[in-house]
Amino acid sequence: KYQCAIFDLDGVLVDTAKYHYLAWKELADQLGFTFTEEHNERLKGVSRMDSLDILLEVGQMKDRFTVSEKEEMATEKNARYTAYISKMDPSQLLAGALELLRELKQMGIKIALGSASKNAPMILDRTGISSYFDVVIDGNSVSKAKPDPEVFMLGADGLNLPYNVCIVFEDSAAGLEAAKSAGMLAVGIGEERNLTCADVVYSSLEKIEIDKYF
Ligand code: G6P
Ligand code: MG
Repeated sequence: KYQCAIFDLDGVLVDTAKYHYLAWKELADQLGFTFTEEHNERLKGVSRMDSLDILLEVGQMKDRFTVSEKEEMATEKNARYTAYISKMDPSQLLAGALELLRELKQMGIKIALGSASKNAPMILDRTGISSYFDVVIDGNSVSKAKPDPEVFMLGADGLNLPYNVCIVFEDSAAGLEAAKSAGMLAVGIGEERNLTCADVVYSSLEKIEIDKYF
């Protein structure tokens, strides 16, 4: 049985992909190319600066900007994104998220956040779930992006738990790969065909058979 649940945030507990998409799309519009929702799939789980590189690659503008110009673009994108998420509320938690957090808490299972986002604290706060987390590891505390396992290992370390008693819930391929490299159980949330490296995939948090794992 497992002793700790580590949650990715975007796409697992909250549906922020639409806000990331809108904010990136505005940048693409400014630069004069089309950025579709399908392109946006490639940004899931990817850090802010790596996302910008992918976006510029889509627009065939990869080597056209200096580092400081790129930093400025990322800052502007983040200003647009934070304008969206500052208006979030608990109704924007994904199906089953609150129920699962509550149940795990009642069972005495440790709960960690393992997110690439530097905006994670604001999202946890706006959606009212900060208090469920025993440890929060986010984009402000990691030096290596997923698929590097650092983010999840720091979560387990923060709880003084060995990696093999931790389950990771993730919607991105990079995140599942990170969980596997850390020696944790990798549970995919989403569509099986996109998440081939998961140990098991559920279409939503609601579907998880909690007694099987904890
Ligand atoms: C998550 C999202 C990505 C996002 C990344 C960084 O992993 O899935 O789409 O780029 O966090 O988010 P941030 O809020 O720091 O820009
Ligand atoms: Mg995610």
